[in-house]
Amino acid sequence: MATDFTKYIASVPDYPEKGIMFRDISPLMADGEAFHAATNEIVAYAKDKGVEMVVGPEARGFIVGCPVAYEMNIGFAPARKQGKLPRETVKATYDLEYGQSALYMHKDAIKPGQRVLVTDDLLATGGTIGATIQLVEDLGGIVVGTAFLIELKDLHGRDKLKGYDIFSLMDY
Ligand code: PRP
Ligand code: ADE
Repeated sequence: MATDFTKYIASVPDYPEKGIMFRDISPLMADGEAFHAATNEIVAYAKDKGVEMVVGPEARGFIVGCPVAYEMNIGFAPARKQGKLPRETVKATYDLEYGQSALYMHKDAIKPGQRVLVTDDLLATGGTIGATIQLVEDLGGIVVGTAFLIELKDLHGRDKLKGYDIFSLMDY
Protein backbone atom coordinates (compact mmCIF):
# COMPACT_ATOMS: atom_id res chain seq x y z
CA MET A 1 0.00 0.00 0.00
CA ALA A 2 1.22 3.54 -0.76
CA THR A 3 2.64 5.44 2.23
CA ASP A 4 0.37 8.10 3.74
CA PHE A 5 2.93 10.87 4.09
CA THR A 6 0.40 13.30 5.59
CA LYS A 7 0.82 11.65 8.99
CA TYR A 8 4.35 13.14 9.07
CA ILE A 9 3.14 16.72 8.50
CA ALA A 10 2.30 18.88 11.54
CA SER A 11 -0.48 21.38 10.84
CA VAL A 12 -0.11 24.47 13.01
CA PRO A 13 -2.97 27.00 13.01
CA ASP A 14 -2.31 30.76 13.03
CA TYR A 15 1.44 30.51 12.29
CA PRO A 16 3.30 32.71 11.40
CA GLU A 17 0.21 34.92 11.51
CA LYS A 18 -3.50 34.61 12.20
CA GLY A 19 -5.42 32.76 9.52
CA ILE A 20 -2.44 30.79 8.15
CA MET A 21 -2.37 27.00 8.60
CA PHE A 22 1.34 26.23 8.62
CA ARG A 23 2.27 22.82 7.18
CA ASP A 24 5.45 21.81 9.02
CA ILE A 25 7.64 19.14 7.38
CA SER A 26 9.89 18.70 10.46
CA PRO A 27 8.30 15.39 11.57
CA LEU A 28 8.87 13.97 8.07
CA MET A 29 12.50 15.04 8.14
CA ALA A 30 12.90 13.56 11.62
CA ASP A 31 11.83 10.10 10.48
CA GLY A 32 14.68 8.57 8.49
CA GLU A 33 12.58 5.97 6.69
CA ALA A 34 9.77 8.35 5.79
CA PHE A 35 12.21 11.07 4.66
CA HIS A 36 14.02 8.56 2.47
CA ALA A 37 10.74 7.22 1.06
CA ALA A 38 9.52 10.77 0.26
CA THR A 39 12.86 11.53 -1.40
CA ASN A 40 12.56 8.36 -3.46
CA GLU A 41 9.09 9.39 -4.67
CA ILE A 42 10.60 12.55 -6.16
CA VAL A 43 13.51 10.57 -7.58
CA ALA A 44 11.03 8.18 -9.24
CA TYR A 45 9.17 11.15 -10.74
CA ALA A 46 12.42 12.64 -12.09
CA LYS A 47 14.01 9.38 -13.21
CA ASP A 48 13.08 9.43 -16.89
CA LYS A 49 13.48 13.17 -17.43
CA GLY A 50 17.22 13.18 -18.07
CA VAL A 51 17.77 15.52 -15.12
CA GLU A 52 21.37 16.75 -14.82
CA MET A 53 21.05 19.22 -11.93
CA VAL A 54 18.69 19.91 -9.02
CA VAL A 55 17.92 23.48 -7.91
CA GLY A 56 16.06 24.50 -4.74
CA PRO A 57 15.29 27.84 -3.06
CA GLU A 58 16.48 28.78 0.44
CA ALA A 59 15.82 27.30 2.91
CA ARG A 60 13.41 24.40 2.77
CA GLY A 61 14.10 23.81 -0.92
CA PHE A 62 17.59 22.72 0.14
CA ILE A 63 16.18 20.13 2.53
CA VAL A 64 14.15 18.53 -0.24
CA GLY A 65 16.52 19.03 -3.17
CA CYS A 66 19.86 17.93 -1.71
CA PRO A 67 18.86 14.33 -0.89
CA VAL A 68 17.18 14.03 -4.31
CA ALA A 69 20.40 15.17 -6.02
CA TYR A 70 22.47 12.83 -3.82
CA GLU A 71 20.22 9.87 -4.61
CA MET A 72 20.41 10.66 -8.36
CA ASN A 73 24.17 11.14 -8.19
CA ILE A 74 23.91 14.63 -9.73
CA GLY A 75 24.64 18.13 -8.49
CA PHE A 76 22.57 20.62 -6.49
CA ALA A 77 22.58 24.41 -6.89
CA PRO A 78 20.94 26.72 -4.33
CA ALA A 79 18.79 29.76 -5.08
CA ARG A 80 19.60 32.03 -2.14
CA LYS A 81 18.22 35.08 -0.43
CA GLN A 82 20.03 38.43 -0.59
CA GLY A 83 23.66 38.74 0.47
CA LYS A 84 24.49 35.02 0.73
CA LEU A 85 26.37 34.20 -2.47
CA PRO A 86 29.98 35.41 -2.72
CA ARG A 87 30.47 35.48 -6.51
CA GLU A 88 28.65 37.08 -9.45
CA THR A 89 24.92 36.40 -9.39
CA VAL A 90 21.67 36.68 -11.32
CA LYS A 91 18.60 37.94 -9.48
CA ALA A 92 14.84 37.33 -9.72
CA THR A 93 12.23 39.22 -7.69
CA TYR A 94 8.87 37.82 -6.62
CA ASP A 95 5.77 38.98 -4.77
CA LEU A 96 5.09 38.12 -1.16
CA GLU A 97 1.77 38.63 0.59
CA TYR A 98 3.08 42.12 1.45
CA GLY A 99 5.85 43.56 -0.71
CA GLN A 100 8.55 41.81 -2.68
CA SER A 101 11.52 39.54 -2.14
CA ALA A 102 14.37 38.28 -4.31
CA LEU A 103 16.38 35.14 -4.94
CA TYR A 104 19.86 34.87 -6.43
CA MET A 105 21.98 32.21 -8.10
CA HIS A 106 25.65 32.19 -9.01
CA LYS A 107 26.09 32.98 -12.71
CA ASP A 108 27.94 29.72 -13.30
CA ALA A 109 25.55 27.53 -11.27
CA ILE A 110 23.85 26.13 -14.37
CA LYS A 111 25.41 25.37 -17.74
CA PRO A 112 23.45 26.49 -20.83
CA GLY A 113 21.24 23.62 -21.99
CA GLN A 114 21.46 21.74 -18.70
CA ARG A 115 18.28 19.86 -17.74
CA VAL A 116 17.11 20.95 -14.30
CA LEU A 117 14.66 19.66 -11.69
CA VAL A 118 13.40 22.46 -9.44
CA THR A 119 12.38 21.38 -5.93
CA ASP A 120 10.83 22.90 -2.83
CA ASP A 121 9.00 21.66 0.25
CA LEU A 122 5.76 23.44 -0.57
CA LEU A 123 3.91 25.13 -3.42
CA ALA A 124 1.68 27.94 -2.15
CA THR A 125 1.18 31.00 -4.41
CA GLY A 126 4.03 29.87 -6.69
CA GLY A 127 6.04 33.08 -6.26
CA THR A 128 9.14 31.37 -4.87
CA ILE A 129 9.25 28.61 -7.44
CA GLY A 130 8.45 31.04 -10.25
CA ALA A 131 11.50 33.13 -9.32
CA THR A 132 13.65 30.00 -9.06
CA ILE A 133 12.55 28.89 -12.52
CA GLN A 134 13.31 32.35 -13.89
CA LEU A 135 16.85 32.17 -12.50
CA VAL A 136 17.47 28.75 -14.03
CA GLU A 137 16.17 29.92 -17.40
CA ASP A 138 18.15 33.20 -17.26
CA LEU A 139 21.24 31.00 -16.96
CA GLY A 140 20.19 28.96 -19.99
CA GLY A 141 18.93 25.90 -18.11
CA ILE A 142 15.92 23.85 -19.17
CA VAL A 143 13.38 23.19 -16.40
CA VAL A 144 12.23 19.64 -17.10
CA GLY A 145 10.16 19.28 -13.93
CA THR A 146 9.16 20.78 -10.60
CA ALA A 147 8.65 18.70 -7.45
CA PHE A 148 7.16 19.50 -4.05
CA LEU A 149 6.33 17.57 -0.92
CA ILE A 150 3.16 19.64 -0.42
CA GLU A 151 0.83 21.62 -2.67
CA LEU A 152 -1.67 24.06 -1.15
CA LYS A 153 -4.36 23.72 -3.80
CA ASP A 154 -6.44 26.72 -2.68
CA LEU A 155 -3.57 29.12 -3.46
CA HIS A 156 -3.46 28.10 -7.14
CA GLY A 157 0.34 28.12 -7.44
CA ARG A 158 -0.10 25.79 -10.44
CA ASP A 159 -1.60 28.65 -12.42
CA LYS A 160 1.81 30.40 -12.30
CA LEU A 161 3.52 27.27 -13.58
CA LYS A 162 1.63 26.77 -16.83
CA GLY A 163 3.72 24.77 -19.28
CA TYR A 164 5.85 23.17 -16.54
CA ASP A 165 5.48 19.64 -15.32
CA ILE A 166 4.52 19.51 -11.61
CA PHE A 167 4.78 16.70 -9.06
CA SER A 168 3.46 17.01 -5.52
CA LEU A 169 3.48 14.24 -2.98
CA MET A 170 0.67 15.64 -0.80
CA ASP A 171 -2.22 18.01 -1.46
CA TYR A 172 -3.89 20.23 1.14
C1 PRP B 1 8.14 28.91 2.04
C2 PRP B 1 8.24 27.54 1.41
C3 PRP B 1 8.30 27.84 -0.06
C4 PRP B 1 7.45 29.09 -0.18
C5 PRP B 1 6.12 28.78 -0.78
O1 PRP B 1 9.40 29.48 2.11
O2 PRP B 1 9.38 26.82 1.87
O3 PRP B 1 9.61 28.12 -0.50
O4 PRP B 1 7.28 29.63 1.15
O5 PRP B 1 5.33 29.93 -0.91
P1 PRP B 1 4.95 30.56 -2.32
O6 PRP B 1 4.58 29.43 -3.24
O7 PRP B 1 3.77 31.44 -2.00
O8 PRP B 1 6.12 31.34 -2.81
P2 PRP B 1 9.75 30.77 2.99
O9 PRP B 1 9.74 31.97 2.07
O10 PRP B 1 8.85 30.80 4.17
O11 PRP B 1 11.25 30.54 3.37
P3 PRP B 1 12.02 29.37 4.20
O12 PRP B 1 12.07 28.15 3.29
O13 PRP B 1 13.36 29.98 4.38
O14 PRP B 1 11.26 29.08 5.46
N1 ADE C 1 4.89 28.66 2.90
C1 ADE C 1 3.86 29.38 2.41
N2 ADE C 1 2.71 29.02 2.97
C2 ADE C 1 3.02 28.02 3.86
C3 ADE C 1 2.24 27.22 4.74
N3 ADE C 1 0.93 27.36 4.85
N4 ADE C 1 2.88 26.29 5.49
C4 ADE C 1 4.24 26.14 5.39
N5 ADE C 1 5.00 26.87 4.59
C5 ADE C 1 4.40 27.80 3.82
